[in-house]
Amino acid sequence: MQTTEKHNQIGRTVRVFFAIWPDSETQKQLGALVEQLQLEAFCGGRKTKPQNIHLTLLFLGDVGIDRLPALCQVADEIRDSGARAFDLKVDEIDCWRHNHILYLAPREVPRELVHLESRLKNGASAAGFLVESRPYSPHITLMRDAVCRTMPALRRTLTWRVREWQLVKSEQTSGGSAYTPVGRWSLE
Ligand code: 2AM
Repeated sequence: MQTTEKHNQIGRTVRVFFAIWPDSETQKQLGALVEQLQLEAFCGGRKTKPQNIHLTLLFLGDVGIDRLPALCQVADEIRDSGARAFDLKVDEIDCWRHNHILYLAPREVPRELVHLESRLKNGASAAGFLVESRPYSPHITLMRDAVCRTMPALRRTLTWRVREWQLVKSEQTSGGSAYTPVGRWSLE
């Protein structure tokens, strides 16, 4: 039985990414902000479910299950070297026309976020994972398939206190994307 289970793991992959997930208070605030913005009226498309709202740090894509410990080790090393907590001021709303994504973003990207992303990217690459080669563009996707001709004004900004990051598994279900944390690391 054990051998069969082990055998079944070989070649199995999971789609994963490192992300920052809002704590419950920030999630509530983001949800309220999204409600207030009435985005469908501006651009149509599909809203991100409140529980799925997040900020991606590094997208890995399909990774062998047997490689997850190596990925967690990259994150352990970054945590153990004292990666710093930070506040993220979410004060911009915009839309990418090429992929029809409407998103929130910080106008000013905290240097701790830049460091964390670049350390994850370098660490994962050194451990043999394929990583994104495009420059990091931190964003919080609110709508997909959005056609934005005009943009709602962001009347309220919010400060997201970032105290941890996660490794998240992404699965496609009949109800859309389902995200499950598979690891968490705190920031000092
Ligand atoms: P998006 O919101 O801009 O689509 C889970 O899918 C997360 O990983 C999402 O935040 C998504 O960003 C990001 N993601 C998905 N595919 C990606 C890719 N090929 N490159 C970079 N990020 C990706």
